[in-house]
Amino acid sequence: MAEEETQEEQPAEAKEGVVEEKRAAREIAPHGPSAAVVVAGQVPGTPIVSRRKVLQVGIFAGLGAAAAGIGACGLANLYPSEVSGFGGTVTVDPGDVPPPGGKTQIASGRFWLVNLNAEQGGPGLLALWWKCPHLGCTVPWRPTFVFPDPLTGAPKQGWFRCPCHGSTYTDAGVRVFGPAPRSMDTMALSVDANGRVTVDTGSVTNGSPDNADRALRI
Ligand code: FES
Repeated sequence: MAEEETQEEQPAEAKEGVVEEKRAAREIAPHGPSAAVVVAGQVPGTPIVSRRKVLQVGIFAGLGAAAAGIGACGLANLYPSEVSGFGGTVTVDPGDVPPPGGKTQIASGRFWLVNLNAEQGGPGLLALWWKCPHLGCTVPWRPTFVFPDPLTGAPKQGWFRCPCHGSTYTDAGVRVFGPAPRSMDTMALSVDANGRVTVDTGSVTNGSPDNADRALRI
């Protein structure tokens, strides 16, 4: 009886506060205090993955892919596939092989293919890198240029002559005049069983007076 009197005596605001607290508690835990909080879009029972975690995984995946790409490039440089053209091997078209005493400029390999006759120090083929050993200018063949032959002193027509500082070379690329420190450099040349001529432009030997001796018979 005394208890009923106490409840009846509670002010109206206090009663409303208690009701409000109970309603809030039901909304937070509708199935009791042990119920899990479910995030919108989440399958119940699966763990929540934070946005930061997703970003971290993405960044590490990107770095891994970049490292793999760099590694692949490094391996490609260490073990390059076969190179053709200048720096690699050049197969000379049969029509570009000059007759004895002649020469052909092979632009793809940056060399002169010369076919030395006996008078020029041959017989045989020689690949002369057209880069002047002095300062690197391209050396042309000058068929009308006349210069004294150092062996006989007699005028001779037709020389390799550098347009930059006048270095002058014989048919075999042997230096006879000018500031070049040596004769024209030669590239490794081979002839297969079918007579096909191949030049390895990556295999260069410094020029010297024995250039003509390197000529290869065909
Ligand atoms: S670059 Fe050929 S002589 Fe100087």
